[in-house]
Amino acid sequence: MLSAKMIEALNRQVKEEYYASNLYLSMASWCEVNGLSGCAAFMYEHAVEERIHMMKFFKYINMMDGHAIVPEVPMPPSEWLNIQTVFAEAYQHEKKVTNLISILVELSSKEQDFATLNFLQWFVSEQAEEEVLFKEVLDKVKLIGDGPQSLYFIDTEVQKINNRVPGQENGAEEA
Ligand code: FEO
Repeated sequence: MLSAKMIEALNRQVKEEYYASNLYLSMASWCEVNGLSGCAAFMYEHAVEERIHMMKFFKYINMMDGHAIVPEVPMPPSEWLNIQTVFAEAYQHEKKVTNLISILVELSSKEQDFATLNFLQWFVSEQAEEEVLFKEVLDKVKLIGDGPQSLYFIDTEVQKINNRVPGQENGAEEA
């Protein structure tokens, strides 16, 4: 059983994941209309992942006898100055979500809610991976800079990341 406070906190996280999904969808759209198909594919994929995160929280709340609520979320931005700004904002957003997951971990620990503590472990690992990935992209974008052909190179580099074989993220070799 979840405490009322925990149900409320988990429902807040449903809202955050839903917003993250919409934010990345909006970023995907901006990339697509600006001709950055590799960056758009990256963001479309992450929009789907955030939706999956939202559903994990949603289903968990109901499974544990709570009541998951479909939230109203603010409209995400639809315009960015440049692709550098898009990835900088996405990375900041991931750091914010990591922080929110840590707060949930703290609450479950304080309440001795070990089922929720265990459920959250997947998100702890997932956030660590996502932060590393978004930081990697942001570092590449910064390194390439904003010279005349930078958009082509940025898009090509992001496409390479999209094409990586699962399990070989962040350049890790298969065992
Ligand atoms: Fe579900 Fe990337 O936060």
